[in-house]
Amino acid sequence: MNMYARLAGTGGYLPQKILTNHDLEKQLDTSDEWITTRTGIKQRHIISEDESIVSMAEIAAKEALKNAEVNAQDIGLIIVATCTPERAFPSSACLLQERLQIPACPAFDVMAACAGFSYALHIANQLIQAQQIRYALVIGSEAMSRLVDWQDRSTCILFGDGAGAVVLKADNTPGILASQISADGQYSKLLYTEKGNNQALYRGYIQMQGSEVFKIAVKTLSHLVEEALHLAGLRSDQLDWLVPHQANVRIIEATARHLKLSPEKIILTIAEHGNTSAASIPLALHQGICDKRIKPGQHLLLESFGAGFTWGSAVIRY
Ligand code: COA
Repeated sequence: MNMYARLAGTGGYLPQKILTNHDLEKQLDTSDEWITTRTGIKQRHIISEDESIVSMAEIAAKEALKNAEVNAQDIGLIIVATCTPERAFPSSACLLQERLQIPACPAFDVMAACAGFSYALHIANQLIQAQQIRYALVIGSEAMSRLVDWQDRSTCILFGDGAGAVVLKADNTPGILASQISADGQYSKLLYTEKGNNQALYRGYIQMQGSEVFKIAVKTLSHLVEEALHLAGLRSDQLDWLVPHQANVRIIEATARHLKLSPEKIILTIAEHGNTSAASIPLALHQGICDKRIKPGQHLLLESFGAGFTWGSAVIRY
């Protein structure tokens, strides 16, 4: 009998501190008008000193488990997608496993920048389909504010912090209809972090050739969403929601136009969250489900693009 991964529950966490464009105007040569028209971002949440990507992941995960009505003891796989782990090891997933008292099971981090959640979801989907596990906890948790140079107006205005979580369960009916991931390392010099110093390990600041990244993102995502629909055997008019990675509203709208999808069918969080990297898709998914826009039986297309370059997608029947 075929087995599929179904979305059983979602959770999210955003740090309390909010940094608005107007706040940034006071410390940088920038303006709310420039940031809003170029990116769609109005504010972002900033992690506090006593929080970590694991503490944020814990809150999001507990909410996802509660909404899924699944016990932590039943989880058979933990994947945390992050490019801002607190330590090289143990992995964030193992630290989370301890906090949630999840019994022995595979637990590891995935580092694929802004496409991290797509990677984690794809791996969990494959393991559920292969009937290796029944329940998976898939999380994106990021502290991007600790990775940006707050003097660099071309990058710091873009990013925010937060965590999103989903619980997947094995079921006889789909679920995730199709998922895919890929990468092309030839573009590694267009978006990267500097080497950093001994204290900070890989914690150098983000460097980006923004307009180049923009063009390749739009082109790659156009192909990606077509391929995703093809793999799922759906037409774009059968899609109910686009749940995209939230990097730039103009990139998202270009993808929606390519799909001939009206703007009302996009779950957008970018204005309030900024780019939370691997956390952006699960946070958007959680928001759409919480406010009841996403309804059972509907078709969702998730897509992402990030440093590497990396990219990924999933088509889901909720
Ligand atoms: N405020 C005001 N001016 C700014 C600014 C800011 N925060 N940041 C850059 N500028 C200036 C630049 O210095 C440049 O000035 P110049 O023309 O005098 O040289 C001008 O604005 C245009 O810069 P440019 O980088 O060409 O702007 P853009 O239209 O490409 O927008 C991004 C910049 C970053 C918003 C856009 O390129 C982008 O979103 N790229 C993709 C980023 C992305 O998705 N990254 C993550 C992938 S997951």
